[in-house]
Amino acid sequence: MGEFDVDAWRAVEEAVRLENERQRAAGLPPARRYRALHPKAAEFLYLLALASGARRIVEVGTSAGYSTLWLARACVATGGVVVTLELEAGMAEVARGHLELAGVSDLVEIRPGDARETLPQLVGPFDLAFVDAEKAEYVDYGELLWPKLAAGASLVADNVVSHAEATAPFLAWLRARGDAATTVLEVGNGLAWAVKGRT
Ligand SMILES: C[S@@+](CC[C@H](N)C(=O)[O-])C[C@H]1O[C@@H](n2cnc3c(N)ncnc32)[C@H](O)[C@@H]1O
Repeated sequence: MGEFDVDAWRAVEEAVRLENERQRAAGLPPARRYRALHPKAAEFLYLLALASGARRIVEVGTSAGYSTLWLARACVATGGVVVTLELEAGMAEVARGHLELAGVSDLVEIRPGDARETLPQLVGPFDLAFVDAEKAEYVDYGELLWPKLAAGASLVADNVVSHAEATAPFLAWLRARGDAATTVLEVGNGLAWAVKGRT
């Protein structure tokens, strides 16, 4: 990849963030919105990826690529790559456009399709996994992701405070694991953060 242009990246980050706010304020139905991660949660993901030097990142739920923009920016520094999984082919194309404009598309592989079908095809190990798709499917994603995480890797999932009931089975699944240290961060809509133990 050529030299990273942080101003180009910032311009796209701002445009996607503002468009997400506009869509929400206009009351568009969820299926027609970007449903982007809260900016504070995106910053947390970015810092986590940087601090852990994550080089192999997997994301479930790309939408328009807002969280992917932040993960890819971390990869500029870590020398890493992101594989991101998105059910809706149209949304995957929107994300592709944003990542290209931001100058980070070389660092991202977008895989359209149901993550429950595309996750088994991925070859780990991954250093960081981010889950932000259907809450009712979080346990399915977790089951498929966990064996592909390296020891010491992080699994982060969004909406565990805003949608506490829907994500409770996922938190219970994580907390029942003997090889995971788990907490909930009240950042944005609430992030579950689990670190895979070195068993
Ligand atoms: C909350 S949005 C993701 C927002 C994105 N992470 C961001 O911050 O910009 C959830 C996305 O997950 C996608 N999705 C839902 N079920 C999925 C599945 N089984 N596999 C892959 N993607 C899925 C939806 O199409 C939607 O685009």
